[in-house]
Amino acid sequence: MKIGILTSGGDCAGLNAVIRAIGLYCCENIAGAEIYGIPDGYGGLIRGESFRMDEKDFGDILDRGGTVLGTSRQPFKRMTVEENGESRLEKMCENYKKMGLDCLFTLGGAGTHKTAALLSIEGCNVIGLPKTIDNDIYGTDVTFGFQTAVEVATDSIDRIKTTVASHRRTMLVEIMGNKAGWLTLHSGIASGADMILIPEIPFDIDAVCEFVSDSRRDKPYNIIAIAEGATLASEAKYKRSERAFARAHMGETTVTRHLAEVIGERTGTETRCTVLGYLQRGGTPCAYDRLLSSRLGGFAARLAKSGRFGVTAAVVGGEITFNALSDIAGRYKLVSPDCPTVRFAKEIGVSFGDKT
Ligand code: F6P
Repeated sequence: MKIGILTSGGDCAGLNAVIRAIGLYCCENIAGAEIYGIPDGYGGLIRGESFRMDEKDFGDILDRGGTVLGTSRQPFKRMTVEENGESRLEKMCENYKKMGLDCLFTLGGAGTHKTAALLSIEGCNVIGLPKTIDNDIYGTDVTFGFQTAVEVATDSIDRIKTTVASHRRTMLVEIMGNKAGWLTLHSGIASGADMILIPEIPFDIDAVCEFVSDSRRDKPYNIIAIAEGATLASEAKYKRSERAFARAHMGETTVTRHLAEVIGERTGTETRCTVLGYLQRGGTPCAYDRLLSSRLGGFAARLAKSGRFGVTAAVVGGEITFNALSDIAGRYKLVSPDCPTVRFAKEIGVSFGDKT
């Protein structure tokens, strides 16, 4: 059996642990398994590049951050566009055949899964694995990489808190997550942030400033965990691309700096912001992610052995299972503004910047 593995989209902790689990399972349990790494995600498949991997390539990578295969972003909307007489999708299918693959593991986020579903429709034997610090893949309770990012963001806010308290400042900590606020929600609660602003709950600037002023009566500093995709209620009616365009004109990609300025002006508190950025994606996976990645990788390899393709591994109710790619492609798992976690946080006094 010829097996290809690729990692696509933004990297995160746990990718190498999945690669290792797939590799070791196949070497141990599939007679005559030949494993090929495809470099740079779908980029390598489009170019038709691969390299042979064996047990020694998997031995020492469990706790290594990033991906030993390399990755790239290949926008989904470009996949079916003809370029010099052929689309990227056609090139990938051709190269899948040329490489003689019997199975392709695609480790990636929501975009990667959309392309994986297309490859599957075109007859490639694809098995997806749910990766992303955003935790927004539909049909799985959790994605690998998420928990490590939660730990990093929580630890960062803990550290920021001591300097903020010393200076009696208000600090906005910008956390990754453009569409989904899971990472901000979980790390915000875990670090005791006073306010959590996420894309799913557009915030009202008056409510934010009022909360900052009021909470100063109890505590001389404020921590606001803000997702990079957080949105003003007044701009929520515009498309994401329109908001991005308007911000780009102001030299910004997110609303964080603008909000910090407004809070500072209106409340008279010294206000700063910190963007955590790629720290959240880098470094060694936490133990939870090492275990999750290993379980998902082993499970996916077992699916390949039994000839089950066109699916992606998932966690549902704590059990490892799978979903059809066609059922999850193009869908997102977002934070429901009324979910128990948000409700609980509100009950203990956390503000989400809405007017309730
Ligand atoms: O992979 C998810 C993510 O980290 C998002 O949270 C973030 O918006 C985006 O990737 C950043 O992407 P890039 O690496 O292309 O800057």
